[in-house]
Amino acid sequence: MVKVASDISFARGGTKTVTTNSTNCVVRIQGLSSAGQGVARAEDGKVVFIEGALPDETCLIRRHYHKRTFDRGTLLEIVTPSPDRIEPRCPHYSECGGCQLQHLRYSEQLVFKHTRIREAFSRIAGFSDVPIRPVMPSPQWEYRNKLALTLEGTDKSSLMGMMKSASHETVEISDCLIASPAIRKVIRPLKQFQQKLTPFFEKIHIRLLGDSLVLVFDARRKLTNLDVAESAASKAAQGLGAQGFCINSLGSALDPPRIVSLHGPDSYRISYGNIYSHCGATSFLQVNPAIAARLYEAVDMIETSNRRLALDGYCGVGILTLMLAEKFESVIGLDSDRKAIRYAIQAAREQSVQNVSFYDEPLPRGLGKGQCDLASQSMVVLDPPRGGCDEETLHRITLSGTDTIAMISCHPATLARDLSRLDAFEIEEVLPFDMFPQTYHIESLVVLRRRNRST
Ligand SMILES: C[S@@+](CC[C@H](N)C(=O)[O-])C[C@H]1O[C@@H](n2cnc3c(N)ncnc32)[C@H](O)[C@@H]1O
Repeated sequence: MVKVASDISFARGGTKTVTTNSTNCVVRIQGLSSAGQGVARAEDGKVVFIEGALPDETCLIRRHYHKRTFDRGTLLEIVTPSPDRIEPRCPHYSECGGCQLQHLRYSEQLVFKHTRIREAFSRIAGFSDVPIRPVMPSPQWEYRNKLALTLEGTDKSSLMGMMKSASHETVEISDCLIASPAIRKVIRPLKQFQQKLTPFFEKIHIRLLGDSLVLVFDARRKLTNLDVAESAASKAAQGLGAQGFCINSLGSALDPPRIVSLHGPDSYRISYGNIYSHCGATSFLQVNPAIAARLYEAVDMIETSNRRLALDGYCGVGILTLMLAEKFESVIGLDSDRKAIRYAIQAAREQSVQNVSFYDEPLPRGLGKGQCDLASQSMVVLDPPRGGCDEETLHRITLSGTDTIAMISCHPATLARDLSRLDAFEIEEVLPFDMFPQTYHIESLVVLRRRNRST
């Protein structure tokens, strides 16, 4: 199965003669876009993006969504398929917007992601000869410790599933093959509660925190009747055998979402090797624990000219910070999430790690803290959200004594932009990690060294 228009069948092999009409045309796919869509150039020279099409395929498409510089195309028929095309495993793949690359052989997914990084670096930052290692592969299935399901409809008739790609519609799903087995197991049972949940909640996040199943309910509207919403959420959580659940308020620009009701433990233990931290129901955690472990190891193995001070800039619940504390004389962790910092401090105390300090301070403000002595830093780790770092943070780090930066990012475009602002540093190498198999997303670690440093 492939992502094609549902009303028209397609050829799986051989070359066929096809007739076109005014909106339909046959194109040859020249490459993949950064979002994993096939890219073709139509006869009139306009670029067309086609979901589900692969490089070197010849496809019958329907052109639509006319923009000035590009069109979108619906894949109607694959006239000549790519040798790298495979049968997607998931029964929901043709509609669900969660995965984009199940129809591409896994080894080629890794090649695509490598190319994505190289092209973003070249297009956005003008870097043409950066050494990029091959992408570190991941378990391809059942890797995610988190699944967000949307709820749509009323208490009489509702849908529970994933968003369709490029739309606000929900597609009903009964399984998700990239979710951890413990999460897959509860998707169907959750459906018996969906009618009661739909009036109150627009999203349910199923999380696996350590060995614990935790549900996070996002309110659909201002919850005037919290008791009733709580009762519906509680029945679902109990029915699924969840260890805890919480309800998030509906957020706004002035009042961001916050937990209005928490049941079960305040946090759950998360272990990586011999180190652990704690994680609350809504704290950030890397979604693919197997590959996150490899990423943390890679940062931990970076050589530095001295081991005085490491700064972990966006440290979350502090797992990497605690690992670095085994190697550096002292380590500082900063994060804007107050609760995450509380968990990190608790974990450091319980494990008697004395040489680490955590502050709930956002960057760049946290960099100005007296404790954060920028002059003597050996290494800075930066692992910002998708939007990347702000200019002030990068400027302050440039002016610091730091000679090594470990930059982690899940977004090649903002990563390239941030690297271009760090021209006092040279890129030593880029290590890509396949944190998100079957999707177009890719995680990268970039090791930077200060130019002309004296070692
Ligand atoms: C991609 S996560 C990385 C977390 C951590 N390194 C890990 O591996 O679990 C980004 C983190 O940045 C934090 N954050 C967002 N904006 C921030 C800011 N301006 N200053 C500090 N932390 C911030 C978030 O709370 C989140 O924990």
